[in-house]
Amino acid sequence: TTTLKAAAGSRYFGAALAAGHLSNASDPDFALFAQEQFSGATPENEMKWDATEPSEGVFTFSQGDQVASFAVSNNMLLRGHTLVWHSQLPAWVSTLTGDDLLNAMNNHITTVMTHFQGQTFAWDVVNEAFNDDGTLGTSPFLTQLGSGYIETAFTTARAADPTAKLYINDFNTEGINAKSDALLETVQSLKASNLIDGVGFQSHFIVGEVPQDLQQNLQRFADAGVDVAITELDIRMTVPASEANLQQQATDYAFVINACQAVSRCVGITTWGIPDIYSWVPGTFPGQGAALLFDDNYNEKPAFSSTIDAL
Ligand code: XIL
Repeated sequence: TTTLKAAAGSRYFGAALAAGHLSNASDPDFALFAQEQFSGATPENEMKWDATEPSEGVFTFSQGDQVASFAVSNNMLLRGHTLVWHSQLPAWVSTLTGDDLLNAMNNHITTVMTHFQGQTFAWDVVNEAFNDDGTLGTSPFLTQLGSGYIETAFTTARAADPTAKLYINDFNTEGINAKSDALLETVQSLKASNLIDGVGFQSHFIVGEVPQDLQQNLQRFADAGVDVAITELDIRMTVPASEANLQQQATDYAFVINACQAVSRCVGITTWGIPDIYSWVPGTFPGQGAALLFDDNYNEKPAFSSTIDAL
């Protein structure tokens, strides 16, 4: 038997890593599986705004540093996640208006990227900016700075760390639809000014409902001259999981892997966690779970084998 990272070859195969799990002495398997199976890492929460700048101008990097040093010392490619997002945003940011928010956003991007420069190969500069209908989603950034906040954020990010690949990242953009159409337009415009290098497709899927045009959609972004990546893959189902759903999930994982592999600019795949027991899914989608490649006890699920076979 082989490992995910070995099977993935020239692409990385990553996982979201939480600092609290890496350092949990009562669960040594988490760090062990991270090291053995994965060649990419994304901090699950530790580089978000509320973690890195809980009050204005006060930066706290200890948790992010933990994930970063684990990743770097284990030769994992580290994705920075994320700089500008309406969620997990400390309350003080939403009280700022006009130039005060502009300056705070730029300072946040510059300070965080500078801190992690040399460790993060890529950054999700802007996360979840769009509504499903393709309009821009409500956020303090949109309200105070207007739709140009995205270009401003990428301009600041490019200057802060010219060595980092700059990504925009979103969900429900995996298939061809109004939201991915709008995302593509923004990507084309940013690319014309050399402000973007990649697009992240979160890929939080429901079993049996993976968009069938995933490959075609990844390809049209790649054709815009950027890298693409599957950044937060999980495939959820009603729990307790039925055998039929676990088999369908295996089919679905293989389908996603094959879509990425068919697109030469699809640089890597990241699953949003390692064992099902720590997944964000049950907390966010009540009654749903079993979304990852390893069960609650780190046993390989059918989707693990199908993923290895597809890689
Ligand atoms: C989730 C984390 O997994 C949870 O621990 C946290 O409570 C909420 O955020 N899209 C993203 C990720 O870009 O940052 C989110 O991560 C999942 C959805």
